[in-house]
Amino acid sequence: MALLPILTYPDRRLHTVAKPVADVDARIAQLVRDMLDTMYDASGIGLAASQVDVHERVIVIDVSQKRNEPLVLVNPEMVWTSVETHLNEEGCLSVPGIYDGVIRHDAVHVHALDAQGQGRVIEAQELLAVCIQHEMDHLMGKVFVEYLSPLKRNRIKTKMLKAQREDTR
Ligand code: NI
Repeated sequence: MALLPILTYPDRRLHTVAKPVADVDARIAQLVRDMLDTMYDASGIGLAASQVDVHERVIVIDVSQKRNEPLVLVNPEMVWTSVETHLNEEGCLSVPGIYDGVIRHDAVHVHALDAQGQGRVIEAQELLAVCIQHEMDHLMGKVFVEYLSPLKRNRIKTKMLKAQREDTR
């Protein structure tokens, strides 16, 4: 089991736009295993490669109660989004301890490759739909706090930087 260090906001590397995976090979399979270990260890429901400083389009998710239904999305593309949206309380492993509301589509359809390179369409609703949208934002270099007001965002930035200074003391 390998745990990868998770970048924390406002680390500039979180704003890197991820590149498509050219080949779903052994390197990607290893990355997926390490990302799953890292996500489960941190009790997260989703993790994008961007958060572990790998800027390729790879996401792992598990929104199951028992934490035994891993979903791997390589090169995900949104193919449909519902008109209906709702405000959802979100958190992020890269912004520990912060939760706030973001408006997301109720349902999305995503085309992606799995860890074996097989293509599939995922029809997601509710928490899974929210999670997919949140993680796909990470691949575009976007962290959920960027949806909040500049005032809130600055307050979060200050809080994060202070916590990081205290950590390294
Ligand atoms: Ni996140």
